[in-house]
Amino acid sequence: MKQSFDSFLKECRERVERQLEQCLPPRQNDSPLNAALRYTTLDQGKRIRPCLVYAAAHSLGPINSDTDHIASALELIHCYSLIHDDLPAMDDDDLRRGRPTCHIAYDEATAILAGDGLQALAFEQLTQLSHATATTALALVRELAQAAGVAGMVKGQAMDLFATGTRVDLDYLEAMHAHKTGDLIVASISMGAQSSGCAAADTLKNLRAYGRAIGLAFQVKDDILDSEGNTATLGKQAGADQLHNKSTYTSLLGDDGAKTMLAQLYEQALTALGQFDERADHLRSIADFIVSRDH
Ligand code: IPE
Ligand code: IPE
Ligand code: MG
Ligand code: MG
Ligand code: MG
Repeated sequence: MKQSFDSFLKECRERVERQLEQCLPPRQNDSPLNAALRYTTLDQGKRIRPCLVYAAAHSLGPINSDTDHIASALELIHCYSLIHDDLPAMDDDDLRRGRPTCHIAYDEATAILAGDGLQALAFEQLTQLSHATATTALALVRELAQAAGVAGMVKGQAMDLFATGTRVDLDYLEAMHAHKTGDLIVASISMGAQSSGCAAADTLKNLRAYGRAIGLAFQVKDDILDSEGNTATLGKQAGADQLHNKSTYTSLLGDDGAKTMLAQLYEQALTALGQFDERADHLRSIADFIVSRDH
């Protein structure tokens, strides 16, 4: 019988939670750094990137323990990026996932180190793949490094800081969003697909096209929610982008223009999955979730 999307999401979240719990330092070892690592990682967040890893694997073949390691690697990089994104030198936010940000709950030095530690743990997860060949495992390490690093998320974050307080054009904004948020989302899908043994260039090409569309859509929606959402539902400060004079889709196109763009990206994502059978339905449902979410 076909699994409902809700039950699929629940299962993905439980699987990645177990994997994260396993790779983080145990609760008994509660130095401030270890407490900060657990505080920022466990039992929270939508876990969209892990869900994409699992949904991409499921669209092509079986989910296995490599899928779990890849899912946790992506979430660890994401959690590190949130800690650093909230630091006073970056977005200077004090609320995240409904709780004080890491540097408020602990201190700035601990928050910086917690982010550094999570990033290293993510790559350690990829050393534990057991189904992939050594060549595939190395390619996956490279893919994550490129998506997270100076050609990917870090580059997008630098573009974001550079654009703060100025008015950039749409091409700049698209590149910035594609790097700071899209690259990790594309990697989640592509790496998840490879965990199920998929190496067909055409299939990966279509999945990455889907990923680029929903990756950009994810950040466009994030901008819309920042502009229209409320702090209690978001679990982070609403209106922070305007307060900090950030370049966003809503600041450049207005809320309506950003929503039109979001609808176009959703269509693009579904079109990219045109050749896939019903095993890709969870990927289709995630595209829907991304554009209709309220936090
Ligand atoms: C927030 O990501 C940061 C962006 C990349 C826009 P999420 O909205 O996925 O955050 P959590 O993990 O659910 O808290
Ligand atoms: C953050 O983008 C992207 C990354 C963390 C890499 P935002 O700065 O818009 O994310 P929020 O709104 O603080 O979650
Ligand atoms: Mg930011
Ligand atoms: Mg931010
Ligand atoms: Mg935002």
